[in-house]
Amino acid sequence: MDIIKNRIEELRRLLNEYNHQYYVLNAPTVSDKEFDLLLKELEALEATRPDLADPLSPSCRVGSDLTKGFTQVKHIYPMLSLANTYSVGEVDDFVQRVKREIVNEECVLVGEMKFDGTSISLIYEDGRLVRAVTRGDGEKGDDVTANVKTIRSIPLQLQGEGWPRHFEIRGEIVLPWKAFDRLNAERAYNEEPLFANPRNAASGTLKLLNPKEVSRRGLDAYFYYLLGEDLPCGTHFDNMTEARKWGFKVSDAMTRLRTIDDVDRYINYWDTARKELPVATDGLVFKVDNLRQQLNLGYTAKSPRWAIAYKFQAERALTKLRFVSFEVGRSGVVTPVANLEPVLLSGTIVKRASLHNADIIRSLDIHDHDMVYVEKGGEIIPKITGVDTAQRETGAAEIQFVAHCPACGTPLVRIDGEAAIVCPNKNACPPQIKGRIEHFVGRRMMNIDGVGEEMVNDLCDKGYLKNCADLYDLTADQIKSLYVKGDKIADKILGSIASSKAVPYERVLFALSIPYVGETGAKKIARASGDIDRLMAMTEPELMAIEDVGPNIARSTIDFFADEGNRTIVERLRAAGLTMACAAAPEAPTSDRLQGKSIIISGTFSHHSRDEYKALIELHGGKNVGSISKKTDMVLAGENMGPAKLEKAKSLNIPIIDEATFLNMIGE
Ligand code: IVH
Repeated sequence: MDIIKNRIEELRRLLNEYNHQYYVLNAPTVSDKEFDLLLKELEALEATRPDLADPLSPSCRVGSDLTKGFTQVKHIYPMLSLANTYSVGEVDDFVQRVKREIVNEECVLVGEMKFDGTSISLIYEDGRLVRAVTRGDGEKGDDVTANVKTIRSIPLQLQGEGWPRHFEIRGEIVLPWKAFDRLNAERAYNEEPLFANPRNAASGTLKLLNPKEVSRRGLDAYFYYLLGEDLPCGTHFDNMTEARKWGFKVSDAMTRLRTIDDVDRYINYWDTARKELPVATDGLVFKVDNLRQQLNLGYTAKSPRWAIAYKFQAERALTKLRFVSFEVGRSGVVTPVANLEPVLLSGTIVKRASLHNADIIRSLDIHDHDMVYVEKGGEIIPKITGVDTAQRETGAAEIQFVAHCPACGTPLVRIDGEAAIVCPNKNACPPQIKGRIEHFVGRRMMNIDGVGEEMVNDLCDKGYLKNCADLYDLTADQIKSLYVKGDKIADKILGSIASSKAVPYERVLFALSIPYVGETGAKKIARASGDIDRLMAMTEPELMAIEDVGPNIARSTIDFFADEGNRTIVERLRAAGLTMACAAAPEAPTSDRLQGKSIIISGTFSHHSRDEYKALIELHGGKNVGSISKKTDMVLAGENMGPAKLEKAKSLNIPIIDEATFLNMIGE
C-alpha cells in the first residue's frame, strides 16, 4: 500500500471540500488554522513525490498575494479595486453621471492622491491596533501585524478622542523615494536584483518574515478610507480629517471639489506637482464625499460606483539608440546597456538605460540606431519600452547579445533557468577581479581605507594584484613605484591593510564576493557556521537550514568553496591573519535543562529567530546540530519544517517539539 499517495489524495479531497465550503457556500466547517495545517502537510508530502504532481491540486491555487508563513484572515468588508481611466474626459463623464444620479442634492467630490504602494487594512479596537491585513485576494489577506507595527507613522494607540470602539481604516503602505533609492543602491552594491519600483519594494518588504529587516527599510503609510458601523461623520472628507487627529497620516492633497472645472484643475495641478511628493503616486482618486450618496450609488461586482481613479501617463520620450554596450559585473553577469542620444525625461537627462538581459532585447526587437521610447513611470531606472519601427534605417541589423566576454574574450554562458548570461572566466576576467577587490576593500567589508577604484585599477594593471589575498603581500616599494607621494600613501595603505585583520568574520565572509551572499546573508551564515572550516564542510541542506538562506545562496556557497582558486585565497587570507571565526563570548548557561542534548532547529518561528533559538539552546547547555542522525535528541520544529527532515526524524523516532513546548521546557 502506498501510504503517502493515499494521504495526498485524501488531503486533496478534504481541501477541495473545505475550499468549496469557504468560498462558495460561505459556510466553513474548519478553522483557517486547521485548513492551513492540512495545506502545509499536503505541500510537504507533494514535495517528496513529484510523480504525483497535479496542477489542479489545491496546493496549486494561485492569483493572490497570499504568502506562506503568514496566517490568513478574512476581511470584514471585501477589499475592492477602483475603476480606472487615463482620460480626463472619462473622469468628467464619471462626475456627470454621479451628479445625474444624485437628484435634488449637491454632489460634492473629494480629490486625493492615488498612492503607488500596497494596500493595507488596519483594525482598531478601543483605540489600539489589533490587526493589519494585506489585500490578498480581496476576500482574505495575510496577517502582517508584526511587520506593520514596525512602521512608525502608524499609530499603535490612537490619540485624541471620538474614535469608534471598533473600526477599520485602509490605506497604502509605501516606500518613500529616499528609502527606495537607498535600498536599491544597497542591493546594486550586493549585486542583488533591484526592485523595479517603490510599489514592488513596499509589497516585497511587507512580506518579509523578519520584522527587524522590515523596520530597517523605512516603510511609510497613507490612509484614505474609514469603515465601520458608527463612524464619527457623514462625509468621507470629515472622517479622514478626524482620522488625521487620531494620529493617521492623511495626505494634505485631499480636497473637496464641487464642479467639473474644479476636478480638471485638480488633475492639471497634480499632474506636475506630484513629482515633488516624497512618495510614488500613479494617479488621483475621485470619490463622492457624502456617505449616504455613496451607499445609494452602490457597487459593481469589482468596484464602488462612487469612485474613479485617474491614472497618470508614464513619462515617455523618443530618442535615438547610439549603441549597445555590454558591461561585466563583479559576479560575471553581462548586462546590456542602451547608450542613447541624451534626452530630457522627468527633469533629468537620460543617456543610458539598462536593457537587462537577452530576453528583453529579443522581445523589444531592437535594431541598430532605432528610435526608442524611454519611460520613467514609477520606475527610477529608465527603461526602453518600445521601438518606433517606422523610423528604422533600411538594412539596420538586429541587436545581438555578444557571444564572448567584452573584457576577456571568453565564450559567455547562460545560467540554466535564468535570464542572466555570464562570463565564466571568474579568476582571470579583469572587471570581475577588479570588482571583487574593490568590494573586498569597501567600508562595510574590510574597510581598507585609501584603496579606491582607481588604485585597485593601477595595482591590477601593474600585475601586483590578481586577487584579494595579494593585498596582504603588497610591499611599500610596489605602492611607492606608482605614486608621486608614494611614501605617505604606502604608510597609510599598509596601515589600513594591517588593521583589516581585526575585521570580524561575518564581514570577511561578505568581503569574499560569494555570489548571492549579501551583507545580511553573510551575517547569518557567519553566526550559524561559527568558523570558516565548519562553513566549508557544510552541506547544501545544512546551509538551507540557516534563516534566510535559500537554494541560490546555499548552492553558490558550496560552489564557491569547491573552487580550488577560492580555497587557496581563503588559506592565504587565513595565513595573513584575517579573522575566520566568530568572536565567541561564552556565556554561562542560564540553566542545564538541555544539558548535553543535540537539537536540530527546523522551520520558521514566531517568538524568536532561528539564531535566537540557537543561542537559547546553548544558554541552556544544549548543542544545536545541523543534520539529523541517531544521536539527535530532539527536533525543535517551527512552521514549514522541511519534509525530508520531518520524515527522517519520524523514521528515527526522534521527538519533534513545537515552539511553545520548547519555550516551556526552558522556562520562558
Ligand atoms: S480607495 C473601495 N483611495 O488603489 C475603494 N485607493 O485600484 C477603496 N489606492 O486597492 C480604495 N490610493 O490599494 C483608494 N486614495 C486612494 C488610493 C487607493 C491608492 C490603491 C488601493 C486600492 C487600489 C485600487
